[in-house]
Amino acid sequence: MKIINPNYIYTTDTLLENQAIAFDKTIQKIAPLSELKELYKEAQVIELGENSLVMPGLINAHVHLEFSANKETLEYGDFLKWLYSVITNREDLISSCDSACMKKAVDMMLESGITTYGAVSSHGMDLDVAASSAQNVVFFNELIGSQAVMADALFSDFLQRLDASKTVKREGFYPAVAIHSPYSVHPILIQKAMQIVKNEALKLSAHFLESKAEKEWLEKNEGDFKEFFTNFLKQDRSVTDVKEFLGHFDDMPTLMTHVVQADEEELKALSKSKHTVVHCPISNRLLGNGAISLDDLDRHGIRWICATDGLSSNYTLNLFEEMKIALFMHHGADLLPLAKRLIKSVTKDASDALGLNTGEIKEGKNADILVLDLTSKPNEQLPLHLLLHGYNVSKIYINGKQVKGK
Ligand code: BEZ
Ligand code: FE2
Repeated sequence: MKIINPNYIYTTDTLLENQAIAFDKTIQKIAPLSELKELYKEAQVIELGENSLVMPGLINAHVHLEFSANKETLEYGDFLKWLYSVITNREDLISSCDSACMKKAVDMMLESGITTYGAVSSHGMDLDVAASSAQNVVFFNELIGSQAVMADALFSDFLQRLDASKTVKREGFYPAVAIHSPYSVHPILIQKAMQIVKNEALKLSAHFLESKAEKEWLEKNEGDFKEFFTNFLKQDRSVTDVKEFLGHFDDMPTLMTHVVQADEEELKALSKSKHTVVHCPISNRLLGNGAISLDDLDRHGIRWICATDGLSSNYTLNLFEEMKIALFMHHGADLLPLAKRLIKSVTKDASDALGLNTGEIKEGKNADILVLDLTSKPNEQLPLHLLLHGYNVSKIYINGKQVKGK
């Protein structure tokens, strides 16, 4: 048992003062230090510096480790131009990101306080790095392929990757499934994958309504995707439409990433099936996809969480930076309430969406804990300051084990 004694504890509802935390793998008790010392006489007591703040570890629910070699390669500003640049550079990007390159991305996340991440894996090249990383990992094996003739081969490749991820037996590692998107996965493949997801109660993710081009293609078989599909895949029609695609996910709460282009009817459907929207503001801006309306999501009671996406559409994997960008993107929202919501989105809400027992400093939750060195006594605007000032994360515990700091 360890007892950590910070000046302040950030909880979902309030800032606690003069309380310490006793924890092993999970948080056992939150109470004044003297009380905890009495209760747990053998415990190691961790004293912290002035203005120390404990908060829950952050959860980055959507990242693509295999594309971490990108810095200046991919073209930003327009979704289709970006997608063409991905197709052109895919092989080079993947082959130039070895384990060291992916580990650097994982370490970048850890440095900035990400204690759980959702790795969307296209090829399974990232499995070893994810399996041996310090963080909790939801490992989303991605299914892709819109051509019916390729379906069997693609499905067996997907199954092999899924099976390989199931052989990882360690605390905090969860094999899971990602359906790439409505336009890129044949309905037959989706149906087959859903059987497995249902039977094995796997966590599930998909990209959904990211760009105007995607929406136009799904609704009208028109727009910028027409030339793309004609040239690359010899298709003149979409393999599905929005309604059919969403139908696969009925009663299976899913992490739907981006959702920038959803209209009222689509929002109603997302709400009805209790899906969570994963909002990646930097990616949306860089790929020319615009800004989602968080107000619309709230109006429909749709849970939304913030994530970084991969380095294929971001310059960093830092959730504090991502939340700061969201704060500026959604300029109509009241500042402090939005800052609070964003922090909740990458802690408690992301944990709930992924079905994990973390994301809060609360008795019974896993001890995924950050220690931040604030630079002065916090005031009521602390959530805002957390996003603006990039405070040093001096210690990190994951499932009670120290993974950063002395
Ligand atoms: C496909 O494999 O069918 C596909 C991949 C990427 C974008 C669109 C389609
Ligand atoms: Fe993504």
